[in-house]
Amino acid sequence: MYTAESFNERVRCMGFVPSNRVAEIETFKVMDLLKRAKQLDVAGFDVVHMEAGEPDFSTAAPIAEAAKKAIDSAAIQYTPAAGIPELREQISLWYQSKYGLEIAPERIIVTTGASSALLMIFALLTDAGQTFMMADPGYPCNRQFLRFLEAKAQLVPVTAESNLQLTSELVEEHWQEDTAGVLLASPANPTGTVVPEAQLRAISEQVKQSGGSLIVDELYHGLTYEQDVPSVLEIDNSAFVVNSFSKYFGMTGWRLGWLVAPEEAAPELEKLAQNLMISPHTVSQYAALAAFKPETLEILEQRKEQFRLRRDLLVGGLRSLGFELPITPEGAFYVYAGAKHLTDDTFDYCWRLLEEDHIATTPGKDFGHYRSNEFIRFSYTTGLDRIQVALDRLEQRIHG
Ligand SMILES: Cc1ncc(COP(=O)(O)O)c(C=O)c1O
Repeated sequence: MYTAESFNERVRCMGFVPSNRVAEIETFKVMDLLKRAKQLDVAGFDVVHMEAGEPDFSTAAPIAEAAKKAIDSAAIQYTPAAGIPELREQISLWYQSKYGLEIAPERIIVTTGASSALLMIFALLTDAGQTFMMADPGYPCNRQFLRFLEAKAQLVPVTAESNLQLTSELVEEHWQEDTAGVLLASPANPTGTVVPEAQLRAISEQVKQSGGSLIVDELYHGLTYEQDVPSVLEIDNSAFVVNSFSKYFGMTGWRLGWLVAPEEAAPELEKLAQNLMISPHTVSQYAALAAFKPETLEILEQRKEQFRLRRDLLVGGLRSLGFELPITPEGAFYVYAGAKHLTDDTFDYCWRLLEEDHIATTPGKDFGHYRSNEFIRFSYTTGLDRIQVALDRLEQRIHG
């Protein structure tokens, strides 16, 4: 809420009156850091980029080829709001081959990235004034989506004891009258940890018992390095699932994702999609048809192997430098490392790493409140040689 003074100050500075809603939405704290990292690049400094949340690989050739063909051969017009039928069908087949699940294409809605899938599902499930429970630390935009909807994220601190994930006990303990549901991410950003199957089952039961809804962000499925993780749909057919072509399929800039909803909820979400997006990106949808081809999957599996090697190098290196890493991250491409032995203000420390050692990382502050000033997120979205350069520079900084 504005005070009269802050209201007048805003009008004076901005020339318009932003809503409370937008005024309260937070920026990514890392954005300024990112801007500075780019400036240092341009100025010729050798910056190791470990701040990005996207694969460094270019779009796999079969996907790029399919996009070019689509541009040459089809009119690029609006598609159905829920996506082209061929792609919904392909995604349905993906569930069959990957998880052995029969998911009707009508339950799948193609979206502009997981971002709009999350926004639409939150909009469907959350009334103004309600809360949605999620782990702290977690992906920052979820908090802002909920604020946008006049609702609120209920952040529950998670520790290594529960694999840095929510548990059914935590859900039960923190459930409030105004809780609309629970969001899980497995593997998660920034921790890379997964929710074990038994826990997924227990949480699903607990959420049902409490009368809420369960959303599982499965965006990093395909990028797990010990074993595949189950989809929540193998356990709970009434859960909402969010996924995307951004991470495993390496298509961040194509802005394409999908959601799976219970049968009765799909038409409601389609209604939202019509109004909010009209349709997902047409060229990207035709490109994504090639994402499931065996030749593409072969490329993606090779890249996953690269990610595994990078993770092992980074985790081993950070541990030997004294970073707190009680759990080896099983998936995604992040390491969320405790740096209490070095600083009690990782925001400031990340700036120093950038300015003095030319290593770009993301401070914990972006991901929540719980011990966030003690943590740094390192993305291994850069080659093994660059990760080694970063580790050498860290070694130099810490041990001289
Ligand atoms: C956990 C999580 N969910 C959702 C998103 C949004 O992804 P998309 O590019 O599909 O919109 C991200 C992006 O980094 C993420 O880490």
